[in-house]
Amino acid sequence: MCGIIGYVGRNSVLDILLDGLKQLEYRGYDSSGVALKCGDKIEVYKAVGKLNNLRDKLEPHRKNLLDAKMGIGHIRWATHGAPTIVNAHPQTCNCGRLVVVHNGIIENYKELRAKLEKEGCVFKSQTDTETVAHLVAQIYEKTQNLTQAVALATKELEGAYALAIMHNNEPNTLVVTKRNAPLVIGVADDGYYAASDVPAFIKHSNKAIYMKDNEIATLTPDSLTIQDGNGNEVTPKIEQLPWEPVALSKMGYKHFMLKEIHEQPDVIRNILTGKLHTSDSPIVLEEVKLTKDILKNLSRIQIIACGTSLHAGMIGKYLIESLCQIPVDVEASSEYIYRDTVTDKNTLVIGVSQSGETADTLTAIRQAKAKGSHVLIITNRPDSAMAREADSLLSVNAGIEVSVAATKSYIAQLTSFYLLAIYLAEVKESANKEDLIKLKSEMLAIPQKIEQILSHKDDIQNCAKKYSGTRDFIYIARGINYPTALEGALKLKEISYINATGYPAGELKHGPIAMLDDTMPVLSVLMHGRVYEKILSNSEEAKARNARMIALTNSIDPKLDDLFEYIIRVPEVDDMLSPLIAIVPLQLIAYYIAEFLGKDVDQPRNLAKSVTVE
Ligand code: M6R
Repeated sequence: MCGIIGYVGRNSVLDILLDGLKQLEYRGYDSSGVALKCGDKIEVYKAVGKLNNLRDKLEPHRKNLLDAKMGIGHIRWATHGAPTIVNAHPQTCNCGRLVVVHNGIIENYKELRAKLEKEGCVFKSQTDTETVAHLVAQIYEKTQNLTQAVALATKELEGAYALAIMHNNEPNTLVVTKRNAPLVIGVADDGYYAASDVPAFIKHSNKAIYMKDNEIATLTPDSLTIQDGNGNEVTPKIEQLPWEPVALSKMGYKHFMLKEIHEQPDVIRNILTGKLHTSDSPIVLEEVKLTKDILKNLSRIQIIACGTSLHAGMIGKYLIESLCQIPVDVEASSEYIYRDTVTDKNTLVIGVSQSGETADTLTAIRQAKAKGSHVLIITNRPDSAMAREADSLLSVNAGIEVSVAATKSYIAQLTSFYLLAIYLAEVKESANKEDLIKLKSEMLAIPQKIEQILSHKDDIQNCAKKYSGTRDFIYIARGINYPTALEGALKLKEISYINATGYPAGELKHGPIAMLDDTMPVLSVLMHGRVYEKILSNSEEAKARNARMIALTNSIDPKLDDLFEYIIRVPEVDDMLSPLIAIVPLQLIAYYIAEFLGKDVDQPRNLAKSVTVE
């Protein structure tokens, strides 16, 4: 949940660290810090709040720091100890000669701290990371070899970590290691980079080495040595990275979120290319590595995910059950891992994750794999830990999503579920052929329909403005769009901090209706299809309690004008495909309300894009 970066080479390190941290801000942004090897000293600078505060703090010293050619940096999402200067990284040992930055959680830090304190270490922070600084420094005193000290110290650590460590006695050596947290090394002509994620160094190098758990890399300006957990040297596998730095630009949009919402039509087109050619040809999904015989006889599917990815999974359940008649359970990964889950080799387990690094989902899929289930991963990061665990990998290729609020990755996950469900139905011959042809044909038209919505976004902006003063918000829907209501509410909560809740519309009368009065906006997702009339009745019930009714609908029925005080109209679409259409206005409502309220849209408080702690 934090981001780390390190560099050793022939170039000035200061801006490499600051620019790299900027790209890692999605991992946390409550404080930051850098340590630079300057002459015979290590200089440490830290600041609370956004990265700009650190930049401002460094500015008066910039001239003196530009000669430094080795350094480490950190951007924090606090887990142990409040976001303060003292808890910000780099953390240091007693004498300040050893500095460390860390992403992850050292689970046995209390025991280690008690032991180290007895041995004379004086702790300054509340962090778990400081134990690593003292521990490695203590061992270094005996070994006088940083790599060896890190190797011995990490044997005592439990939990998750990606670490970058420097010692003042080793002017050209940076040591990095990881366990259950991402760490990637960038190889360049000018030296070596190490970071939690590739955007941190991609403008300097597109050659990467993804480190494996327990490996320790020793980096100098001219050499890279990697040893495994047993101390044996390993030959690194260098991969060519596909992403271009341009993916990280806002391209003229005010926020990444708005840009990413607008990218959605192309994201869908991209995914369909090569998989859905024409409506009457079958879906091609070579990524699914199960034989057709196994697929035909699948008895059960489990979908595990968190947050927005969980909502995509809920729609996946609806699709697979309707088209393939295979029972599907969907569960939040954080719940899945702490109960006696029944799964076996006849169950297909689908893990869904934008980042591919979410700790809860990673643990859940590992548990399922251990029980013999085939694990299919739907992710936006083919280079992630989950992708590497996958038996089948469905890469959604939405491109880097910078805004913390997931938008285009959600639509990409949904599109992947449609492809998967239709593919399974074709293999199993479980759905009417003509219906599938119609569905595929309509699917090909979805990008254009989203473009239509985006071209009328002023109307949605007006709606957002009208309701931006509200304290609470309710979203109601039924059937396949119930998860759409949940996702709309999550988007609003996370970027505007308005208390928003999604309900199955039929549940309103079982309790939530008590909250309704003339201050409460209730947004009905009212799409033509199986449950249209039902939601209409539920909307009438809410209106009868004076709620401020908003409709998101593809109906042009003039009677709606009496029931709803605001109507957002979207294009006509098949009931089953409607989640792809209905979510777009909800993303825009959340965006415009947050923007109108002056919130930090791309980096909402208390959140991080990649949640690598359980
Ligand atoms: O990377 P993942 O999809 O595994 O992340 C799961 C959630 O943390 C994520 O969807 C979160 O809810 C987003 N902030 C939603 O916008």
